[in-house]
Amino acid sequence: MGFGMKDILEQLEDRRAAARLGGGQKRIDAQHGRGKLTARERVDLLLDEDSFEEFDMFVTHRCTDFGMEAQKPAGDGVVTGWGTINGRLVYVFSQDFTVLGGSVSETHAKKICKIMDMAVQNGAPVIGINDSGGARIQEGVDSLAGYGDVFKRNITASGVVPQISMIMGPCAGGAVYSPAMTDFIFMVKDSSYMFVTGPDVVKTVTNEHVSAEELGGATTHTRKSSVADGAFENDVEALAEVRRLVDFLPANNREKPPVRPFFDDPDRIEPSLDTLVPANPNTPYDMKELILKLADEGDFYEIQAEFAKNIITGFIRLEGRTVGVVANQPLVLAGCLDIDSSRKAARFVRFCDAFEIPILTLIDVPGFLPGTSQEYGGVIKHGAKLLYAFGEATVPMVTVITRKAYGGAYVVMSSKHLRADFNYAWPSAEVAVMGAKGATEIIHRADLGDPEKLAKHTADYEERFANPFVASERGFVDEVIQPRSTRKRVARAFASLRNKSVQLPWKKHDNIPL
Ligand code: HXC
Repeated sequence: MGFGMKDILEQLEDRRAAARLGGGQKRIDAQHGRGKLTARERVDLLLDEDSFEEFDMFVTHRCTDFGMEAQKPAGDGVVTGWGTINGRLVYVFSQDFTVLGGSVSETHAKKICKIMDMAVQNGAPVIGINDSGGARIQEGVDSLAGYGDVFKRNITASGVVPQISMIMGPCAGGAVYSPAMTDFIFMVKDSSYMFVTGPDVVKTVTNEHVSAEELGGATTHTRKSSVADGAFENDVEALAEVRRLVDFLPANNREKPPVRPFFDDPDRIEPSLDTLVPANPNTPYDMKELILKLADEGDFYEIQAEFAKNIITGFIRLEGRTVGVVANQPLVLAGCLDIDSSRKAARFVRFCDAFEIPILTLIDVPGFLPGTSQEYGGVIKHGAKLLYAFGEATVPMVTVITRKAYGGAYVVMSSKHLRADFNYAWPSAEVAVMGAKGATEIIHRADLGDPEKLAKHTADYEERFANPFVASERGFVDEVIQPRSTRKRVARAFASLRNKSVQLPWKKHDNIPL
């Protein structure tokens, strides 16, 4: 008798067990020793229990150079497949550092491409877990071609399905450009880094001495470069947080964001908001307090919390539905717009618009930050990004002006003129071309030497313009609302906009000032 059915089944299990062991127990222990989980442990934590279905577990490379024919680990250094996050379909790849350093071969790349193609065809997010020594050195150009194939798919999928990159180990050289083209990048503190050229090359070329952590660790990319959107303490926290983010996102660009059950009254009145804005217009206050008080259950998922803190971006829910929030933060740089905050918010607004996520904009902005570093750095182009992003958005847009809305920044920040749907102002709002003091010093230059006269002019200007009513008289502000009823008003506004439809003229694509 030949093999019985039982033997065949056992063989399959043996093969599977061998594949699951990746690069072997010793390397798994080394991975754990660095505080990192293995590729499969990460997938298990990311997805709902028992929901993962793996593809291509037995794929091997085809390289015969450098003795590679003798070393053909099943799976080829990446675990791919699909599963669910709170019941919703997602596709995943997770590089296995224990197998040839998670390096990318032709076949490794093909596995990633396969699940990316399926994600686009089936309209579900792609989550990539990066932990790799880069191009498989033994394969050379075949590996580069593999990267190219992945890059192209990142671009094709951009704006079609959400793409999220987790950096959970090395990510260097050209390998960084796949995550760079995804919607969100999250890193793990102390165990991940990203750079185009590593510390050794930097030392040789520029004579700078810098560690991998300083050059491309989580702190660098969340605070200095803004390459990463967030950083977490360890793998477990990172994976739990990405699950939380996915809950906010639609599966693709043809679908509305998910609606979750909510236990928070949309009509909830918040009397404390009536005193959020201080009496003195130069005293700062924390705009986050407003966001938390508006959100269902006070749940706010912040994006780029550590970068350009003068603007806040992130997701909340209203009546269970996802809303993207963009808000000036008076606590930092008085809430001024500048290069960094414009770039940060512009990218966020474009993400929301691409995926049909309505946008709530909370405004307290005294203008653009003056200075040579801003002008030399191109604040004109970068500020234009935010203007452009709001101006091209066709999703429902609701704006609340809490205090200052001055000059160009007023127009940029989701004004009526850029097609916002509801523009509310609190009674404390000041919609004006600039602050009263600055305005008076220009109009009444002749009285500059006379403080008494100047004070009177300033008071007159404030009386006339430092309020929401001039703009209301023109219809630029739709209504002046009580701060305490903001949640109710905003939720009602978004509810009325659920079928909003705007058609813009045909174009191949736009030409946003990059
Ligand atoms: C093949 C690799 C590899 C690679 C690591 N390994 N990187 N195998 N190709 N690129 C293997 C190692 O030989 C080793 O095998 C195992 O993975 C673990 O590596 P270690 O060096 O022992 O680990 P560690 O000390 O943690 O160092 C990690 C590392 C280092 C910093 C990533 O391995 C490294 O510098 N690797 C080379 C990085 C690199 O130059 N890559 C190519 C860059 S060019 P064993 O059998 O001992 O466990 C590139 C271009 C992309 O990526 C272009 C896209 C367009």
